[in-house]
Amino acid sequence: MIKASDFGSKFIWGVATAAAQIEGTASQYGKGPSIWDTFTAKNGKIKKNHKLDPACDFYHRYAEDVALVKLLGFTVFRFSIAWSRILPNGRGEVNQEGIRFYHNLIDECLSNGITPYITLYHWDLPQALEDEGGWTSFSINAAFNAFVSICAMEYGDKVKNWIVLNEPFGYTSLGYMLGVHAPGKTGLSNFFPAVLHTALAQAEGGKILRAEISKANIGTTFSCSEIIPYTQSDSDLLAAKRVDTLMNRLFIEPTQGMGFPTANWDVLEKFQIEYGTWRLQERMKFDFDFIGLQNYFPLVVKYNAFIPVIQAWEVKAKSRKKPHTAMGWEINADSFYNIIKQFAAYPNVKNIMITENGAAYHDKISNGNVVDAERIAYFELYLQALLKAKKEGINITGYMAWTLMDNFEWAEGFNARFGLVHTDFHTLKRTIKYSGYWWQEFLKV
Ligand code: BGC
Repeated sequence: MIKASDFGSKFIWGVATAAAQIEGTASQYGKGPSIWDTFTAKNGKIKKNHKLDPACDFYHRYAEDVALVKLLGFTVFRFSIAWSRILPNGRGEVNQEGIRFYHNLIDECLSNGITPYITLYHWDLPQALEDEGGWTSFSINAAFNAFVSICAMEYGDKVKNWIVLNEPFGYTSLGYMLGVHAPGKTGLSNFFPAVLHTALAQAEGGKILRAEISKANIGTTFSCSEIIPYTQSDSDLLAAKRVDTLMNRLFIEPTQGMGFPTANWDVLEKFQIEYGTWRLQERMKFDFDFIGLQNYFPLVVKYNAFIPVIQAWEVKAKSRKKPHTAMGWEINADSFYNIIKQFAAYPNVKNIMITENGAAYHDKISNGNVVDAERIAYFELYLQALLKAKKEGINITGYMAWTLMDNFEWAEGFNARFGLVHTDFHTLKRTIKYSGYWWQEFLKV
């Protein structure tokens, strides 16, 4: 059976979370509203109209939750800083209560022997900045840089591991093109400027951390999925190539100094000409110490002329009769291995960490237990694939499970449970699932 020691004694094992998904107290202790507070207040945006508050009430229970991280045997805790808790208006006046909260959280980790990995942006943009256009507006970059500086100066003596952005493709596509996530904007005229300013933010954020924190270990994360053409027909191959360009290449290639990929695709070529992105190539480049990969599933795509722009359509796991999680996401560890190899092939990717991976199931408590055998099987499969990639010489240095406890799963509300710990959203009681105990055993040997 696979065990942690197979990965070597230096391998880093962690568990990941994000502020908006767990903290609660969305409008307390001086925090300003974020785009997710605004989005969830609208009817019909979130399954069952769930709201962000109190989520897991992590703001009040962080000590109990850090204790859980320790109890499960992880030595790294990844969490994000809510921008509007530090800067209620996105820029300008600093909220000292917010500053104190993250000091307390960091101190709690450190005194328990847990190393914090801080994500600077995990999707909860201050609403005040969205009112100016959010990621579509040129003004976002100066505001983000100022926020990064404040965090670096405030916490940089204690925290050395930083993640600039969480999944830039995730929030630009879902939030600014498809409109299913906050802020709910749609269309290419929102998507492309959001992409450009995000690509600038990821590099500039990295440069600021480098300048302001000595011995910092700086990364950023990318969502990634192996893209598999449904057939080998020319049209399916083209559809797969386009989806791959958008989902996997769009944000990593600028960091590598390669600019945005075009894939000989007129839509992307036009975007680059219109925004003169070739002039910004140097600004979008940054030599990250590690690249965080976040993988959940592969995508099988088929050509479809009726889908605007991309002309590609996903063929769902269920209709292909493939094993899948409660999200409908295909369980396919080979595709995890393949996508790691794809990213490792960039010559400047020196070090890969898996910063998220996990599975949602319809967990139930019965007699005080959550027997989530499927989640355990998922982790076993995916960790085996990871070990295979590592043994083949890819420099993979860490893995973070998604996620510590059931939480607010964005548009799914509280309906999708990814946690190693069960959260009762009425009483907020935490119950370690069997998968949590599985991790505890796995990490012991
Ligand atoms: C995000 C998490 C999210 C998870 C599962 C990732 O895309 O970073 O915030 O909960 O996937 O959907």
